[in-house]
Amino acid sequence: MSTQTIKTDRFMNTYKRTGLVFEKGKGAKLYTADGSEYIDFTAGIGVNALGHGHEKLVTAIAEQAAKVIHVSNYFLTEPSIKLAEELTDLTGYDKVFFCNSGAEANEGLIKIARKYGSSKKPDKNVIVTLKGSFHGRTVTTVTATGQDKFHQFFGPFTPGFIYVEPDNLDELERALTDTVCAFIFEPIQGEGGVRPLSPQYLQAAEKLCRERDILFVADEVQSGVGRTGAFLACEKLGVRPDMTAVAKGLAGGVPVGAILARGACAETLQPGDHGTTFGGNPLAAAAARVVLNELTQPGFLAEVDRKGEKLKSAARSWKNPLIKEVRGMGLMVGIAVTCPPSDVVAQCRTNHLLALTAGEDTVRLLPPLVITDEELDAGIARLKSSLDELAQRA
Ligand SMILES: Cc1ncc(COP(=O)(O)O)c(C=O)c1O
Repeated sequence: MSTQTIKTDRFMNTYKRTGLVFEKGKGAKLYTADGSEYIDFTAGIGVNALGHGHEKLVTAIAEQAAKVIHVSNYFLTEPSIKLAEELTDLTGYDKVFFCNSGAEANEGLIKIARKYGSSKKPDKNVIVTLKGSFHGRTVTTVTATGQDKFHQFFGPFTPGFIYVEPDNLDELERALTDTVCAFIFEPIQGEGGVRPLSPQYLQAAEKLCRERDILFVADEVQSGVGRTGAFLACEKLGVRPDMTAVAKGLAGGVPVGAILARGACAETLQPGDHGTTFGGNPLAAAAARVVLNELTQPGFLAEVDRKGEKLKSAARSWKNPLIKEVRGMGLMVGIAVTCPPSDVVAQCRTNHLLALTAGEDTVRLLPPLVITDEELDAGIARLKSSLDELAQRA
């Protein structure tokens, strides 16, 4: 179907769609049906860790589909058994619960935190999150999200959430009372504007949580699975959460989510407490095993760091008056701009580069982790031209 003939009137109006219809992809490139090529600095919003059309991923999905796609969680399959072992070995967590999305992973860990807290004290169920955070679109995860713009229309919301300023330890210390069961944070706020937390803040927050028997919980749905140049961003920040949510990149594009838990958190849920029909299905598990295998190849994560530095240092070297700041970790990069970031994204699209916005003022770049230097250089050149063209117009 060509881009000109698309009809979107049968879709609910939930996305500001671009009008682009993609047919296929290879590496960090996507192609429309009429053959136009785009460099993808979005990776499906941080999902296509191995890019598009990755041969090993495609083969594993096809082979697993031919064997068995789904059996329900009353039974096990080899891919999910192996994935559970590989993921817990890699991350040092004790146990995993598989689900299908980031929001679902966060919903599940909120349930674990509340069950854990109320076993200590009946009213220990309050959850502290950060202003500017994003944790998902279900009623409870949207409540956990510390941004007012998401808190409209859908009330009444789940009670028991409070929000504090990122990197303000005094405020956090006051908020962590004996009714709090968990502190949930993104190590780098993604949707909120690619804003890393300081390691000093996070390390002090972890200490406070431990002293007060409050669970220290990371939402690494966007920052996890190699995106920041470590398998989990918390490794780089020197903290060890009790639980971590991952999703997005974990199966390279097949829907998946996971709650990783250690210690008491890993034992909190009992049969009947929680569940999912699709979570941990062999198709997603087979795909995720390929992603883990690729990410653990020697030098893979160092390359993510190198390519991220290349992108950031290029943007920092430009004397473009629209650029306020360049920040991020690994291939999770934010460029704060003085114009609406959606203008930059639109101009990039005109120049056949796909980019994202984040927060109020940020252009967000999440290329596939396997992007080649050639693709990266071409994308950087298109980004520079787009910003230059906008600056000339301003
Ligand atoms: C940090 C974070 N948590 C949770 C979510 C929700 O994930 P999903 O859209 O898979 O439900 C997102 C999605 O952008 C996210 O970035």
